Amino acid sequence: MSGETIDIAMIGLGTVGGGVVRMLARHGDEYTRRLGRPLRLRRVLVRNANRHRQSVNETFKDAGAQTIISADTITDDVDTFFSDASTSIMIEVAGGVDPAGDYVRRTLESGNHVVTANKSLLAARGIELFDTAARHNASLAFEASCAGGIPIVTSLLFGLAANRVSGLYGILNGTCNYILTQMTQHGTTYADALTQAQQLGFAEADPSLDVTGQDAAQKLAILAALAFGARTHERDVTVLGIDTLDLADIKFGAELGYDVKLLGIAERSETNGRMSLGVQPCFVHRDEPIAQIYGSFNAVSVYGDAVGHVMQMGRGAGQMPTASAVVSDLINIAAGWYPRAFAKVASSIASGGMPDVIHADELTARFYLRFNMRDEPGVMAKVATILGTADISISAALQHEQIVDGFVPVVVVTHNAKQGRLREALSRIEALDTIYASPVSIRIVDLPGG
Ligand code: HSE
Repeated sequence: MSGETIDIAMIGLGTVGGGVVRMLARHGDEYTRRLGRPLRLRRVLVRNANRHRQSVNETFKDAGAQTIISADTITDDVDTFFSDASTSIMIEVAGGVDPAGDYVRRTLESGNHVVTANKSLLAARGIELFDTAARHNASLAFEASCAGGIPIVTSLLFGLAANRVSGLYGILNGTCNYILTQMTQHGTTYADALTQAQQLGFAEADPSLDVTGQDAAQKLAILAALAFGARTHERDVTVLGIDTLDLADIKFGAELGYDVKLLGIAERSETNGRMSLGVQPCFVHRDEPIAQIYGSFNAVSVYGDAVGHVMQMGRGAGQMPTASAVVSDLINIAAGWYPRAFAKVASSIASGGMPDVIHADELTARFYLRFNMRDEPGVMAKVATILGTADISISAALQHEQIVDGFVPVVVVTHNAKQGRLREALSRIEALDTIYASPVSIRIVDLPGG
């Protein structure tokens, strides 16, 4: 920091970087009043400086941002960018693992703080980077990396610090929640709802990251590390996307009182400390608050032993919600509140044990099942026998008189069952010649304390 100003560098000037510039332009005076000194954007590193230099005045004219950023602020020369010794905080909003990871590491190694919105980077190199931050007593703040504008990172680190957290349930991908809402409330097909989400700009450049659940899995791995103080990694998360869902199941689920959500679930057993980490389409009873989060919103419900459920909802993506989280981190570092706290967090995650994650087969839950059965005597009895032999007990069944080519969909809801035993039972059922196509299974989530 120079004498008068708190100097910042930024990597990336895309959607989120533009939001940061806009926030500094809109509220700079207020931030100066709170911090006692102005924040100054000294240098912005981009891939193609000429392109940005030509458009910078036009791009930011609405925000009156010419005092924040000018053509001179922008460079594509990495050495020039890092040669400026006056900056003490670097904002990384470029995305991707390379070269962003090396730039973040280099900044931390020089003892400067980093604010990042980059979940892919943390998912891939988080442990190493937290470790680097801890060794150099620097902050690596990352509120924007999970659930956009929702301050879930700070809630887990500070607001809920007194609790032992046993569960975290998150709608962590706005694109998927938007698609599922359209399918549930308007009967829209999956393909049409995905096209709408892309047109509205929620989806990742490669929407397969959204719909396969991978984006949510990266966020869940980060949140679980904070909630449980363990070195959880994306590869610890069992993932199933919404691209496997059928509209028919959404309709049957609704008849039974459930809404479908793509939930990231991190649970830790109170008795043995073992964790389960999964992202999958789940049925949640429509009376649960998290079932009532619709459209492109995100929500995270944390269950702590003292507080019970605390749920936050808000925009998980988009320029200004994400910039809200980035600039909040920036202000908290500049105010001097984060450096010690985050160095401690970093070291507790870095020194935390490897997580004891159960195999998905060990997961115990209730399940919604759908079978397409030949409509003739004894078929249901055979299915019930196979389930019973696997120790899976039926709690409800639903069948309509809608026979197509001699087959009828039959829905079964189970009591608690081990997922692995269910998987084996379903493959035996699928082999019956009176069953058409693969049986469908969807986890039913019973939130603790419900
Ligand atoms: N594409 C993501 C979503 C936002 O739809 O939630 C960034 O992670």
